[in-house]
Amino acid sequence: MELDLSGYDIKISDDMNTWEEVNLLYNAALKQIQTKIEILNDEFQEVHRYNPIEHVKYRVKGPESIVKKLKRNGYESTIINMVKYVNDIAGIRIICSFTSDIYQIADMLRKQSDIKVLSTKDYIETPKQSGYKSYHMLVSVPIYLSDSVVETKVEIQIRTIAMDFWASLEHKMNYKFESDAPEEIKKELFECAVMVEQLDDRMLIINDKIQRSKKEEAIWKID
Ligand code: GTP
Ligand code: MG
Repeated sequence: MELDLSGYDIKISDDMNTWEEVNLLYNAALKQIQTKIEILNDEFQEVHRYNPIEHVKYRVKGPESIVKKLKRNGYESTIINMVKYVNDIAGIRIICSFTSDIYQIADMLRKQSDIKVLSTKDYIETPKQSGYKSYHMLVSVPIYLSDSVVETKVEIQIRTIAMDFWASLEHKMNYKFESDAPEEIKKELFECAVMVEQLDDRMLIINDKIQRSKKEEAIWKID
């Protein structure tokens, strides 16, 4: 992906990487983790006959929103500051069916020896005030270049389909009203967040029942 930063007032000194080099690293990190996720999903399918992952989205943050975020946090727009302070330049969103899948996927990723978990935020255990729920992991993966190895950060968000549905509508609201969303809509969304939680819980219970009856059926067949 080629990006022209000439319009964005980003200062690049001689000893720093260029945006093209940085961008290459983040894309490489996304590819690495993409492969890992695919392998885990294939293995899970093979062993448990079940796909924990519904779908996965990948994105590299655009220069405009990187600069905006740096400004918001009071940093100058330099490549060094980008790499140091913007943790979600490379972002992955893993969408699962059930809440239990989320923790299983997080654990499987955590166990990989080349993935370093820099921080986690469990907004399922402790949802945000808005009602937002999701499991966040900030990780780094080593990227092997011709003459060096660079640890590159990736933000991974793991959530259920229902949590994702909620988050995208809430995001739309925030985008539309900026920080000035009507209380009424916020309240309604919060109520929906409670419903999302109830739905996720019930779907998990139903799935367990289905799995259990499948097993019993298998036992009867053996007998
Ligand atoms: P950012 O500066 O937004 O990156 O927040 P942060 O550094 O405190 O990280 P956090 O883990 O709280 O949030 C990172 C990302 O999670 C955001 O960029 C959103 O994609 C998502 N997110 C966090 N809170 C909310 C929320 O209330 N609503 C929605 N829709 N998404 C959220
Ligand atoms: Mg963010």
